[in-house]
Amino acid sequence: MTFDYENIAIGTDIEEIDRFEKYCDDKVSPLLKRIYTNSELEYCFKTKFGAKRLAARYCAKEAAYKAMCGFGIKIVNLSEIEVYHDDMGVPQIRLLNEHNKKFKFRVSLSHSQNTAIAQVIAFRVKEKQKSIFRKKCSDGTLRFLIL
Ligand SMILES: CC(C)(COP(=O)(O)OP(=O)(O)OC[C@H]1O[C@@H](n2cnc3c(N)ncnc32)[C@H](O)[C@@H]1OP(=O)(O)O)[C@@H](O)C(=O)NCCC(=O)NCCS
Repeated sequence: MTFDYENIAIGTDIEEIDRFEKYCDDKVSPLLKRIYTNSELEYCFKTKFGAKRLAARYCAKEAAYKAMCGFGIKIVNLSEIEVYHDDMGVPQIRLLNEHNKKFKFRVSLSHSQNTAIAQVIAFRVKEKQKSIFRKKCSDGTLRFLIL
C-alpha cells in the first residue's frame, strides 16, 4: 500500500476555557470578530456553553493553522478558517480564502470542564490529471483534445 504523505498534514491545539469566559460578557469585542466568523459566533452563543465552544473553535483554527504550515502555507487571519456543522451536527472545517478548493479537512473537537482540544487533518486536493485524446477528422487531419 502506498500513502501520499506529501498531501496530508495534521495539527493539534489545546486551550484553557476560562481564557474565553470574558467574551461571553463582551460579545461585540473586536477580537472576536478578528478570530470568528458570524455563523461561528451565532453557534457559540446560542447555548450557555459559549466559552467552551469559543475555546474549541479557537483550538480548531490553531490546529488547522498548524496543519497548513505543514504545506508551507501561513493563514494570515484565523477568521479565514471556519468551523461549521454538517446535517448530522458533525463539525467540519473550510477555508474562506483562495485556498478553499485546494484543501479539505477533518476535525474533531472535545471539551471538559476546564480545557478544550481539537485535532485537524488537512488534505491537499490533487489536481485532476489531464488526458490527451487524439481524434482523426473526416478530412484526414488529426485533432488533439485535452480533457
Ligand atoms: C457527540 C458526542 C460523542 C459528544 O461527546 P461529549 O463527550 O458529549 O462532548 P465532547 O466535549 O467530547 O465533544 C463535543 C463536540 O463534539 C462535536 N460533535 C457533536 N456531534 C458529533 C458527531 N456526531 N461526530 C463528531 N463530533 C461531534 C461537537 O462539535 C461538540 O463540540 P461543540 O459543542 O463545541 O460544537 C456525544 O454527545 C454522543 O452523542 N455520544 C454518543 C454515545 C452516547 O449516546 N452516550 C451517552 C449514553 S451512554
